[in-house]
Amino acid sequence: MRTKILSIFGTRPEAIKMAPLVMQLQASAHVESVVCVTGQHQEMLKQVLDLFEIAPDVNLALMTGNQTLNGLAAKLIAALDDVLATVRPDRVLVHGDTTTAFAAAIASFHRGIPVGHVEAGLRTGNLQQPWPEEMNRRAVDVVSDLLFAPTASSKANLERESLQGRIVVTGNTVIDALNLTTARIDNTPALRAELDARLPFLDNALPLLLVTGHRRESFGAGFANICGALADLASTNAVQIVYPVHLNPNVRGPVQETLSGARNVHLVEPMDYLGFVRLMQRASIILTDSGGVQEEAPALGKPVLVMRDVTERPEAVVAGTVRLVGTERASIVSAVTGLLGDAGARAEFARRINPYGDGYASQRIVAALTGRAFEPFHAGETGVAPAAARASLAAAVY
Ligand code: UD1
Ligand code: UDP
Repeated sequence: MRTKILSIFGTRPEAIKMAPLVMQLQASAHVESVVCVTGQHQEMLKQVLDLFEIAPDVNLALMTGNQTLNGLAAKLIAALDDVLATVRPDRVLVHGDTTTAFAAAIASFHRGIPVGHVEAGLRTGNLQQPWPEEMNRRAVDVVSDLLFAPTASSKANLERESLQGRIVVTGNTVIDALNLTTARIDNTPALRAELDARLPFLDNALPLLLVTGHRRESFGAGFANICGALADLASTNAVQIVYPVHLNPNVRGPVQETLSGARNVHLVEPMDYLGFVRLMQRASIILTDSGGVQEEAPALGKPVLVMRDVTERPEAVVAGTVRLVGTERASIVSAVTGLLGDAGARAEFARRINPYGDGYASQRIVAALTGRAFEPFHAGETGVAPAAARASLAAAVY
């Protein structure tokens, strides 16, 4: 008897982090895998589905331009209720902290369907940062009976809250997705050349600052500061900046207004994951407010400056491979300038410590879902799980 598992996701980062898990679910003899995408994102979601060749069983295509949180949440809960009634899954899987994850978890809870939360237990302790994601993540954890915590510290956060779900430490599936993608890039010189040719304007002799930014709590003054800082940095001619600009109009407006036409600043469309991973590989420094990039960049040995005051991903900050720089113009400029001028500090920053995963998170999750034995993720002193645990997972078929 196969367990019917319905994976529900809707945005770019969820799709990247669910893709390797969906691949494992599809490969399992014990699972009937059904995929529903909500289409909270449109073009940015499609880029990921195409890359990982995921053909959703249901696509709700719910996105509208400049959608509101309440409008989106209301549509999601109503539409997902119909999906749950039709698919009748034994279990739902959701990921992370988006409105899709929140709505899918609540809709499943209302129907008495068990929820597994992938990437459970991340916390800043501040409901305003990231907003509204900290609340979404907590709410999903409350209703989930299976909590897939990526790290020991996310497990500890969950334990402090006396939740009812069973906690399993798995590593973060983003490292599974990253490993699959870097393997493709590293093993295929022609692909690498093709990806590099997409950005012919880049000068290999000039340091490359790769930027992403889209957080709602930074709309307005925060984005004005970030754009001002990028303009200041570009004007020195000491760095070239590539910024794939998020499609949210609240981001694109100020970014294009302040930076289009600025010398040394290349505003580009959101990149597909292959292209973006290649660009992270080429970057000298990454400046971001993204959650996923904070996890990927340390795994690639890249220095990351995070434009936030707090992070729900403190592991790399503790390890010294990520630094919080806030959203003040002067502090961003001084952090980037200091690092550009200090090769030793960059090398120190870029120690290849990756506390977030070992590439086998998806296997662990499927093992837990199907009642098979497995070794939980344990980040050793190097940040990576013991080789024996990885080897047994690599050989296993669930
Ligand atoms: C959402 C998530 C955030 C995640 C981010 C990843 C919530 C509350 N926030 O924020 O946690 O970090 O996705 O990027 O769920 N748009 C498009 N095309 C797209 C995607 C977005 O045009 O493919 C535009 C639309 O105008 C849309 C707007 O961006 O209405 C906002 O999208 P939304 O998903 O509501 O919020 P994000 O800021 O992307
Ligand atoms: N990413 C991408 N193309 C881009 C920018 C980012 O594929 O142009 C990837 C990035 O590698 C990471 C994910 O998108 O895996 C992060 O998404 P985002 O920053 O939108 O959301 P967050 O992680 O902050 O929720």
